[in-house]
Amino acid sequence: MYAKFHSIGAYVPSKVLSNEDLEKMVETSNEWILKRTGIKERRIAGDNEVTSDMATKASKIAIERAGLEVTDIDLVVCTTVTPDYFNMPATACIISDKLGIKNVQAFDISAACSGFVYALSIAKAFVESGMKKHVLIVGAEKFSSIVDYTDRSTCILFGDGAGAAVISATNDKSEAFIDVHASADGSYADFLVTPAPGSIHPVSQKVIDEGLNFVQMKGNETFKLAVKTLTKDVKNILAKNAINSEDIPHFIPHQANYRIIKAVGDALKMREDQVVVTVHKYGNTSAASIPMAINDIYESGRLKKGELMLLDTFGGGLTWASALLPFAGETL
Ligand code: ACO
Repeated sequence: MYAKFHSIGAYVPSKVLSNEDLEKMVETSNEWILKRTGIKERRIAGDNEVTSDMATKASKIAIERAGLEVTDIDLVVCTTVTPDYFNMPATACIISDKLGIKNVQAFDISAACSGFVYALSIAKAFVESGMKKHVLIVGAEKFSSIVDYTDRSTCILFGDGAGAAVISATNDKSEAFIDVHASADGSYADFLVTPAPGSIHPVSQKVIDEGLNFVQMKGNETFKLAVKTLTKDVKNILAKNAINSEDIPHFIPHQANYRIIKAVGDALKMREDQVVVTVHKYGNTSAASIPMAINDIYESGRLKKGELMLLDTFGGGLTWASALLPFAGETL
């Protein structure tokens, strides 16, 4: 039994937060943000719109595009660092309920921006072992809920959104995942951290006073490590599977910063038409970034059945992951 990437869906909130809007909130400029990150605008969820709402909308599209009923799904994995509840229940359980899926295994994983590719590796293992047939994986973030909109070094970067995919069993090897690789190095944990709430800092007045509930990032150090790690990871997965970078029609890197994407693409000698870029319109949507980018090229007609995708991502933990797989869904 093999695992195939059966379908993709995404949801993007309607509210736009532009660089010009941010100019009115913190000491920054459209020019600085564009030059340093490539981001023009990002989307922000509505006040009453939570992570599971966005995830459910993306999931419905993915399930429908796979030609399945919600009752066909036998595992739900949600990857997020902005769950509906920080402790319990898992957002995957809430998504299952909102979709009307009963009595299936459902859990969350936390791997920050690498979460979607981590979830792919989990879905692959469950499907290949024969334990599950149709796994729904969802990357969803209401990142605006952990951003300090007075901190110019982080608030310009992040946005909200969700992307979902159905990973299904197949006997056809030509449709199957080629490879997934996921890794982590906790010695860099302090590069990207949301200090509270957690067992180190349970909610307290100190948490509120010191803003420990907001994301903190060592931006410059993260930037340098991201370029190095992403490049190495892609080189490894291509070499391991004897595939040349020029033979990849769709290189889909994590959308954190256009300069990172460009540096990695150049190091791999990728042509511009191979590299998928959505960071200008959505910013960094963490675990939702990769599936939102896949959905973008799918809906614009660029991604067709059978075409090879190379995914490459990097995030808090630190975590990183890459995947090489054909798109096995129907062309839109
Ligand atoms: N507007 C204007 N000036 C700013 C802003 C801003 N929004 N933010 C920072 N600056 C200033 C700094 O204060 C600093 O000023 P100084 O020289 O007077 O001290 C100067 O700009 C340079 O700051 P740097 O942090 O060195 O700028 P850099 O070029 O590194 O860009 C950025 C910052 C955009 C954050 C970049 O480092 C980056 O993208 N890092 C990687 C982020 C990333 O990949 N994250 C990984 C995944 S995220 C996840 O897992 C959730």
